[in-house]
Parts: sequence; structure tokens; C-alpha cells
Amino acid sequence: MEEFKHYTVMKNEAVDALECKNGLIYVDCTLGGGGHSELILKRISPEGRLIAFDIDDDAIQAASERLKNYKNITIVKDSYTNIKKVLQNLGIKKITGGVLFDLGASYHQLTKAERGFSFMKNAPLDMRFDSNSDFSAYDVVNFYPENELIKIFSEYGEERFSKRIAKAIVETRKKKQIETTLELSDLIIKSTPKIKSSVHPATRVFQAIRIEVNHELQNVKNTLNDVLDLLEFGAIISVISFHSLEDRIVKHLFKYHSQRCHCDKNQIICNCPPPVLELVNKKPLMASDEEIEENPPSRSAKLRIARCIRKSL
Ligand SMILES: C[S@@+](CC[C@H](N)C(=O)[O-])C[C@H]1O[C@@H](n2cnc3c(N)ncnc32)[C@H](O)[C@@H]1O
Repeated sequence: MEEFKHYTVMKNEAVDALECKNGLIYVDCTLGGGGHSELILKRISPEGRLIAFDIDDDAIQAASERLKNYKNITIVKDSYTNIKKVLQNLGIKKITGGVLFDLGASYHQLTKAERGFSFMKNAPLDMRFDSNSDFSAYDVVNFYPENELIKIFSEYGEERFSKRIAKAIVETRKKKQIETTLELSDLIIKSTPKIKSSVHPATRVFQAIRIEVNHELQNVKNTLNDVLDLLEFGAIISVISFHSLEDRIVKHLFKYHSQRCHCDKNQIICNCPPPVLELVNKKPLMASDEEIEENPPSRSAKLRIARCIRKSL
């Protein structure tokens, strides 16, 4: 396999947040190249245990090689959405230390031409994190109805010209299916006004399709809820997100579960259960200026941290 390149974003901040302790159980839901996992392992060895998930074969291979000398990591090629089932199969009832999510795609995924994520490199429309999945960018572009395309381009990509682009896609595919990244990118360029910008006109639509193909927002939302059931009292959840909708999901879920009361104003007696979480930081942490200079994409990273304050039953 060609070299796996990825710059680990907010490495120290995200792992410091976990307050790693030797002997406890940690989970890295998004192993990638293993940058965060390696630092966790350094801090929890020899007694601590790390379970790390990824669905991408290249990531699993690269991280397995990088971390091969650590005996206390279990690398699982499965979606983090199956965290409850996987931990149960490993005989783990509770995450005693903490859990990390570093959401989005790795640099490797975004730049390896044949993965079909890049509008700069010609390849079949793909964008699957998991190459075994049978749903790809090709299906979205060629089979989604026009109104669905408009919706995902506007919501996930915040694309101003969603309607024009969706219309151009639908018109084009009446004649012939859209097969490649460059066909799609050319079509976007031709169907939108020329505007002076440092951002390529296809950036937002490609991002939106990637989010749709990999069910990124639904996955985060569902899994964070599952993780709350798995956290031991005192365990920490640390989440890095790159997209405003993703961050909003994390922010709202943390806020909701850290509130003491959810009662209607008119209710006299409150029967709300005690909160599950305590916010460690009210405002998200951002990458340092030095990190942004070294790795500009880290400027959109937001790190939110919370601690479980619910006693296990
Ligand atoms: C930003 S990268 C993580 C990089 C990693 N923290 C590092 O330092 O190298 C995100 C990773 O999450 C993985 N991923 C995305 N959705 C996933 C899912 N549902 N289950 C497991 N892994 C997933 C991607 O394949 C990708 O490798």
C-alpha cells in the first residue's frame, strides 16, 4: 500500500482531555492512521486497554503496522455504530476511561485518487469509507431525485447554487450516467457562475455527497447516544468535529444531557432523572495558531469534552 498520510488534528488536546490512566478502558472510535491511538497507548500502558474502530481497510492496515508493538490494543474493523455489540462481544460492560471521536475523513482518503473523494483527480465516483459498502457517490449522483440532491447540497454543503447544480446533474444523466469525479466537477463548474474565490467550485458539493454516502451525521447522532449508556462514572468523551452540523449535534446532545431539568415551565413537580454528563468546556477548543499554520484544515476543528457523572446501576 502507498504511504498512509494523515496529520493528526489536536492530538495533545484531544488526548489530554481523556485524562488517560493506566488500567482503564478507552475507545478510539475513529482510528485512521492511529495518531491519537498511539498517544493514548503511550499514556495507558501497560495495564490500560484500548479498543479502536475503523471501517477503512487502508486505515486498519496502516494503524495495525504503526501500533504493532502494543499488546493492549484491539483493532476492530467495524463501524463505531456497532460499539455496543462489539464491546459486549469483547466482554466489556463499561468504558471506564474514555472515548474519542475524530470525525470526518482522513487526508489519505481525501487525496488517494482511486477513492473518488477528490475533484482534482479523475476516478470513478466512489467516496465510501468502507469499500465493502454497496452504496457510493455514483448512486447518489445518478439516482437521487432532484429535490434530494438540492437538499443535501444545501444542508451538508451549504452550497449557494444547489438548485442549478442539481438541475444540471439531472439533465446530464437523462443522456448518460455520470461516472467520474472529473465529469461531476466539470458539470459543477459549467453550471455555476464564475466567482473569484480560493475555494474550488466543486468543494461543497463533494463534501455533501461524502457526508451522505457515509451517513456521517446520522452515525454520530446515534452512536453518541449509545456511548452514554456505556460510560462508567467519571469516564470522558472527547469529540473533534469539522463540520458545523456535526458540531451542532455534539453540542446539543452534550447540553441536553448535562441539564438538570427538562420540564415544561408550567410543571410544578420535577421528576427529571439526574444529568448524565458534566461539560468540561462550555465553548469548544480550537487548534492552536501553530497547528493551523502547519496544517490549515485544522482551522475548522472543534473539540468538545464532557464527563459522565451518572453512577452505574
Ligand atoms: C479523521 S480520521 C481519524 C484520524 C485519526 N484520529 C488519526 O490520528 O490518524 C477519521 C477516520 O474515521 C473513520 N470512520 C468514519 N466513519 C466511521 C465509522 N462509522 N466507523 C468507524 N470508523 C469510521 C474513517 O474511515 C477515518 O479513517
